Formats: sequence, structure tokens, C-alpha cells
Amino acid sequence: MATDEQKWSFVVVANRLPVRRVREGAVAKLVPSPGGLVSALRPVMSGNPDAVWVGWSGVPGPGGDPFEVDGFQCHPVSVSQGELQLFYEGFSNATLWPLFHDALVPPEYHRTWWDAYCAVNQRYAANAADLAAPGATVWIHDYHLMLVAGLLRAARPDLRIGFFLHIPFPARELYIRMPWRAEIIDGLLGADLIGLQTALGTDNFCRAVTRITGAKITGKLIQHNGRATRVGAFPIGIDTERIAELAADPAVQSRAAEIRQTLGSPRTVLLGVDRLDYTKGIEARLRAFRELLAEQRLSAEDCALVQIAEPSRSQVTGYGEIRRTVEQMVGEVNGNFGVMGRPVVHYLHQSHPIEELVSMYLIADVMLVTPLRDGMNLVAKEYVACRPDNSGVLVLSEFTGAAQELGTADLVNPHDIEGLKTAMESAVHRSDAEAEPAMRSMRRTVRSNTAQRWAERFLARLGTCP
Ligand code: G6P
Repeated sequence: MATDEQKWSFVVVANRLPVRRVREGAVAKLVPSPGGLVSALRPVMSGNPDAVWVGWSGVPGPGGDPFEVDGFQCHPVSVSQGELQLFYEGFSNATLWPLFHDALVPPEYHRTWWDAYCAVNQRYAANAADLAAPGATVWIHDYHLMLVAGLLRAARPDLRIGFFLHIPFPARELYIRMPWRAEIIDGLLGADLIGLQTALGTDNFCRAVTRITGAKITGKLIQHNGRATRVGAFPIGIDTERIAELAADPAVQSRAAEIRQTLGSPRTVLLGVDRLDYTKGIEARLRAFRELLAEQRLSAEDCALVQIAEPSRSQVTGYGEIRRTVEQMVGEVNGNFGVMGRPVVHYLHQSHPIEELVSMYLIADVMLVTPLRDGMNLVAKEYVACRPDNSGVLVLSEFTGAAQELGTADLVNPHDIEGLKTAMESAVHRSDAEAEPAMRSMRRTVRSNTAQRWAERFLARLGTCP
């Protein structure tokens, strides 16, 4: 266990810790936190005795004592119930999240939310400043903590500071609606290196910086207030080896066979795995499926759609509504096309351990990843990592970061329902032999850009920053 005086040479700062405490009856246990950020970063931290992860435990109130997970240290930050509403549900998830996802729902701007955002960012920065050894590397993550680099730079000029944004950076025309646009850019420019998922995100960011600060940008080097910040695209990957190992695990494979049987052994299994979020395009996917059944282009006898919708941000504007819409549509499709004891859509509003998800990837003939906007989308990569025989079709939204890398997927515009229908129908009818070249090429990409390589690339570049 770390003492109060212990200092760390590598500090990760993210809103959530990699695990959160949940209660099962009288017993509290630790489960992995939701989302792609944690699943990508955890393998990078695993077994690193010089590393500490600073974040929130998922439970409002005092942070509690530091503890160890997977051979690295976790340092909880306290977030009160009030801050949870104003900082997390408010500014992070009802202002920044929708604004950065193309304003798919209208972002709300409240000064009290902004004040809480500043206070909580200050607390994360103070924790990181306390824990970092002289000259340490600090890596800050995601939209919840965009002021931390600037605050930390002021407190600890000796540190090497990196920031990575896991979600898209929006077009400048959208970003400039933000009342605190200059403060956020200033906060980010406290970093030595800023990483984004895609070249488009990098361009959007640079355009916003030029407009808001007038800073000089040469190539990907921003000069502002006497400091230099580098910017670049670092597309994130997955722990490909671990996922592939799970896919080869006999227990996971026999569970896969069991699931297929439970579904009634349909000829084709279509699968969606998402947090229940309005950015994920679940509604359009269900609409397309419903119309394909109604037009008899797909048959309920041959096909089953499994939709996993992991519960998420239920108190935030837009999330209750998407849940109602999705559940109503699932009910309608099953009411119209299911038969006794055999629904055509199997909808689970639950989170699942990775082993169970891998079992599902194994039986998915068609994987539907159709977000309206997504920074990367690691589900797409996990699916590909689970197809060693090169079978299966990935239907992938062109508005995901993953589409930049997985160019041989069946790319779709999720706003175009007819296009989505054509893509789904063609995917269902594709033979394994026809699917093979595309999957083979995607597997090469997913194997070569793992989470570990992503971190190495980012940290190597950060290491060269003056
Ligand atoms: C996305 C974000 C992460 C976030 C995750 C889960 O992947 O980029 O920062 O942690 O969603 O969302 P939640 O609100 O539950 O942390």
C-alpha cells in the first residue's frame, strides 16, 4: 500500500478509476468501469509498480484509501453528490458530451455547472501534483478533465504532461458556441502533447485554437503564451492478445454455443453492443431491422438480433428518452415478428463481463456498429479480434474513428436508413468466403495497433517534447 509520501514517476489522471464498487446484496465488490477509455488503458497500466491512476470510484462522497488493482496503484478522488450532478451529469455529460458529438442533443450551458467543473478539475490537478515524483510523466484523459493540464503546469512546471481526448473534437463552428471556449483551450494548452483519435479531430482542434487564441501553428506545433504544445492523431487500440485468448478459451466457446442454442439456433445472428447512449445509433439500427422484416427482405425465422445496451448516465438529459424509444421499438418488433418463446430481438439492458461479450462476438455473423458519432469505438475492434477464421461481417458507421482504420468494413451512413438496410441485408447474405478478405485486412490492422502500441506511441512522442 502506498504511503502518503510515496511519489510516482507515471501518473494517469482520468475521471473514473478502472474499477468501481458495486453492491450485491450485503457484499461490495469491484467491477471494471464502463467504456472504452478504461478497457484500453487498463492493460497499459497492468503490472507497472511505478504507476498510479488518479480517478473517481463511481460512488459519491469521500474518495477512500488508495488500493491496488492488477499490480498498479489506484488513488481515489472525492466527488460529492452535488458535484456529481453539476460536474459529471451536468457540464461533462450534458454540455461537453453532446457538443463534442455534433450537438446530437442540444448542449446546455449553465454557469453553476461550469463552476463545479473548475472546482473538480482543480481537485484532480492537486491530487496529481501531490502524487507525481519530480520530473514525472502525467497523462490526463478525456473531456471531464480539460483544465487539469493548465492547472498542473502552473503548480508543477517540472512535469511532462500529456492529454488524450477519447471523444471527437467537433467542427470549429460548433465548438465556438461554448461560453468558456477560451478557458478550455488554455487548459488544454498546458499539456506538452495533445492526442486526438483522428486526423479530423486534430484539424478541428487546431482550427479552434487559431480562431480563439490567435496562436501560431506550424505543422502540428502550437505556440502560445511562450510555450509549445504538440498535437497529433493517436488512434486507440485494444488489448488484442487478451481478447484473442478469450476467444480461444474452451469455456468461452462452449458458452457461445450455448447462447446460440438459447437463441433458437438461427441461421444468422446480428449483434449490437453499446452503452445505451443517443450517440450510438441504436434507434436507426432497430428501425432498419424492423423495415427489413416488414418488407420480407429478412426473415424472423432465420435471423436473431441481439442488442446489448449497457446502462449509462440514466440521470442525464437525453438518456431516459433514448431508453424509452429503444425499448418501445424492441417491443414493437417482437410483437409484430416474434413467435411464442422466440423473440426476434434479444435486448439486454445490462452490463456484461468481457468473457460473456466475447462469447457473443463469437456467434455474431453480422456485427452492427452504427453510431451517429463516435471518437473511436472499440467494440468494432474487439469483434474483429474475435474472428481468427476471418468469418463475419462488420457493418460500421463512417462517423466512428474506427472507420478511418477499418476501411474494409461495410461502411454505412447511419442517418441513411435505406443505405443501412441495404448494408444489413447484404451482410446477412454474405458467405464466409466472400467475407474473408475484408476481415483478414481488418485483423491485420487490429493486431498491429493495440492499446499497448497506442500508449507507447503517445508516450514516446511525449518523451521527445522539450
Ligand atoms: C466514453 C468516454 C469515457 C467514459 C465512458 C463511460 O468511453 O470517453 O471517458 O468513462 O464513455 O461513460 P461514463 O459516463 O459511465 O464514465
